[in-house]
Amino acid sequence: MPERVVRVGIVGGGLMGREIASATARWLHLSDLGVRPEIVAVCDPDPRALAWFERVRPTPRLVADYRDLLADESVEAVYCAVPHHLHAEVYVACLEAGKHLLGEKPFGIDLAAYETIERAAAPRLLVRCSSELPFFPGGQAVWRWLAERRYGRVLEVRSLFLHSSDLDPGKPINWKRVAATNGEYGVMGDLGLHVLHLPLRAGFRPRDVRALLTNVVAERPGSAGSPVPCDTWDNAVLLCEAEDGGDTFPLRVETKRIAPGEMNTWTIEVDGTDGSIAFTTKLPKTLRTMAYAPGGPQEWRVTDLGSQSAYPSISGAVFEFGFSDAIQQMWAAFLDELAHGRDGMRQPFHCATPEEVGVTHRLFTAALRSQRERAVVAV
Ligand SMILES: NC(=O)c1ccc[n+]([C@@H]2O[C@H](COP(=O)([O-])OP(=O)(O)OC[C@H]3O[C@@H](n4cnc5c(N)ncnc54)[C@H](O)[C@@H]3O)[C@@H](O)[C@H]2O)c1
Repeated sequence: MPERVVRVGIVGGGLMGREIASATARWLHLSDLGVRPEIVAVCDPDPRALAWFERVRPTPRLVADYRDLLADESVEAVYCAVPHHLHAEVYVACLEAGKHLLGEKPFGIDLAAYETIERAAAPRLLVRCSSELPFFPGGQAVWRWLAERRYGRVLEVRSLFLHSSDLDPGKPINWKRVAATNGEYGVMGDLGLHVLHLPLRAGFRPRDVRALLTNVVAERPGSAGSPVPCDTWDNAVLLCEAEDGGDTFPLRVETKRIAPGEMNTWTIEVDGTDGSIAFTTKLPKTLRTMAYAPGGPQEWRVTDLGSQSAYPSISGAVFEFGFSDAIQQMWAAFLDELAHGRDGMRQPFHCATPEEVGVTHRLFTAALRSQRERAVVAV
């Protein structure tokens, strides 16, 4: 079958825009998927950000205004990675221009912005939110295990995403550390979908939340070197009562910018009466599982994971997997679903949906209220 080419525009040529361009450039890393992206246009108002994309082949059109990119009829789908206060404006413009959208999280700076985007999403357009960590081979193993309901009754779910560079009070301010551009959610908006994606995909739903939010570093060096306010939550610990088919259990969610020593550590652990599973990107080759039968031994098994994720790649199965591979696998899932439809996908794990993202917005909004009122708040 001939390969379908999807012509793509990137809006926001920063850290994540470059990751998607790189994943696209090494598409031959994947086994034939029947679909291939081609970046035909990139938009960023910062000429230094835009200049990097001159290295992309074939060279895309480079524009400073996203409206020029959206006016290009050859652009079929848009990957959008801009600061959070621009999500609603740019995502809605993409959808109104009739483009399929893979938008970065949190998919709106707040609940109202999310709802504005959600209303603009016509059924004929594929709209998905970026969340790549479940594409780690260990994330895929956890997802398959959850889908097969190997846990029996859930005892507890712990899901964490930890960064540490903000421990340094001398780290300069950036838009992610300012509520006006990053959002009142603070670290929850940055890291929250990553920890909630798999629990939500399993059908687990938080009923309520008691949030413990901390803003540890309240000022950071500004562009002139003098201190400016850093008014976002650094760390968030959310204790939720969650539900699975009528049974409730504790869902413990942590998103932290100040977790000493941690470098992008994503951890998911599920304990159940019939089985338990644990994976962390800190030990990216290691999957821990336990199957339990009443009266039987309680033995954890440790399995080495190789390189293979949702979509087969040319890497030997024994080799290692990394962040840029997860981005490429997520990008493949988006394009697979776009080209073949949900039911025709080459494998069944699709990207995060607007509905799933909506649950995260309602949870983070409840968490903010919980912090203000020092109370348990319904989601
Ligand atoms: N999935 C992940 O793992 C992950 C990791 C980091 C960031 N993100 C998300 O990606 C998005 C962008 O984050 P980033 O780290 O790439 O930020 P960044 O600051 O590195 O890049 C953002 C880019 O957007 C550009 N921009 C600003 N206004 C624009 C406009 N009107 N039109 C087009 N471009 C504009 C900026 O000039 C900048 O180059 C955010 O939503 C963030 O939460 C996701």
